[in-house]
Amino acid sequence: MKLAENKATLSFSQGGAPIELPIYKGSIGPDVIDIRKLYAQTGMFTYDPGFLSTAATQSAITYIDGDKGELLYRGYPIEQLATNCDFLETCHLLLYGELPNAAQKAEFTSRVTNHTMVNEQMQFFLRGFRRDAHPMAVLTGLVGGLSAFYHDSTDINNPKHREIAAIRLIAKMPTLVAMAYKYSVGQPFVYPKNHLSYAGNFLHMMFATPCEEYKVSPVLERAMDRIFTLHADHEQNASTSTVRLCGSSGTNPFAAIAAGVACLWGPAHGGANEACLNMLEEIQAMGGISKVGEFMEKVKDKNSGVKLMGFGHRVYKNYDPRAKLMQETCNEVLTELGLENDPLFKLAKALEKIALEDEYFVSRKLYPNVDFYSGIVQRAIGIPVPLFTAIFALARTVGWIAQLNEMISDPEYKIGRPRQLFSGAVKRDVQPIGTR
Ligand code: ACO
Repeated sequence: MKLAENKATLSFSQGGAPIELPIYKGSIGPDVIDIRKLYAQTGMFTYDPGFLSTAATQSAITYIDGDKGELLYRGYPIEQLATNCDFLETCHLLLYGELPNAAQKAEFTSRVTNHTMVNEQMQFFLRGFRRDAHPMAVLTGLVGGLSAFYHDSTDINNPKHREIAAIRLIAKMPTLVAMAYKYSVGQPFVYPKNHLSYAGNFLHMMFATPCEEYKVSPVLERAMDRIFTLHADHEQNASTSTVRLCGSSGTNPFAAIAAGVACLWGPAHGGANEACLNMLEEIQAMGGISKVGEFMEKVKDKNSGVKLMGFGHRVYKNYDPRAKLMQETCNEVLTELGLENDPLFKLAKALEKIALEDEYFVSRKLYPNVDFYSGIVQRAIGIPVPLFTAIFALARTVGWIAQLNEMISDPEYKIGRPRQLFSGAVKRDVQPIGTR
């Protein structure tokens, strides 16, 4: 870490010597004040619920400028990656720091492709779930369960184990998500086909059946690949921080990624695209575009508890760059499938237009996030709504594992252990039950 020339001075209104805190400079973005010695020097902690002002780690993977609406993976703008590279190139970039050349791409693709099957026993594990289980419940179990099947890649402190676990997780997630789907609809599992691309193979495992040839549409394949690329990493968000915290105890990579899946499930995080589509369907059922005004009034009424799902972001206070790319993909997919007049898409456009002009949203810098359009694209492709978050988890796995491996390789890494401001009862004595 590079020390800044200036230092921060912390003084106390009730006297005592002020203390100096070092400041570190990143390559871009805000500097950080190093408070690691604060407790030793002052006996005080810092207080920052939700980590609004706390950098919990240094990282060289993903950079977001929320005010500009900029997202960089290892320095490359998301727009360039989504347009010029495919998902596996992006995985290589996130994991190893550089985009692959042609030979490296072929080698990496072959390694991932050769790990796409899961242990046959996994399907018996899966069959233990109810058929109507939420796919994220299934996926949390299956991903954690991988640690019971692949014992040779569970030592997080062994770089070889971490490398094999990374490849296995990236390779097997599409297989597990597709298996969860097939199980929910009562169809036979479809095994991976290694001549297909990563996205094409996923679509094939989802929609092929043993009795019907399934030809992967290049437009849908590209759309799926783009969904994966746009969701591949997003710096220290809730699920990534969960993976880091979980992995910091030295647990195995499969268990740490399962923790990330569980965190992603929530509607304020990965569950937002499912929540967004459910919201569009509700407005549609209420009467569609004619009810948009009425719905917006509810959104703006603090007492209603209704939020415009797919809008707002903790970090982006500008248009989410991924939302623009997803909107482009949305148009391509709807045209390919002859769904240009899809009522939900029209409804989404109407909501977006109103929100972008409305004072409530403008003053709070609330813009559409990636989930606003990704749900419509996935629904058009034929993916059922409850599977959306599982697909997000599939795509984010590479980011989680890259961040986990970065943490374990960091000489400054320590087990995560936040502190608290205790506001409960002070020490007291247990009274006999008859006198309580
Ligand atoms: N609809 C209506 N009002 C909103 C919305 C929304 N979607 N988002 C934020 N606001 C309002 C808040 O009520 C608050 O208003 P106030 O200042 O009058 O109290 C103000 O905007 C600031 O909102 P916060 O909740 O403080 O913003 P925060 O950064 O904590 O939350 C969050 C971000 C959780 C994403 C929020 O915008 C939200 O719930 N959005 C809807 C869910 C969603 O789309 N999540 C996806 C996130 S992206 C991802 O995970 C891939």
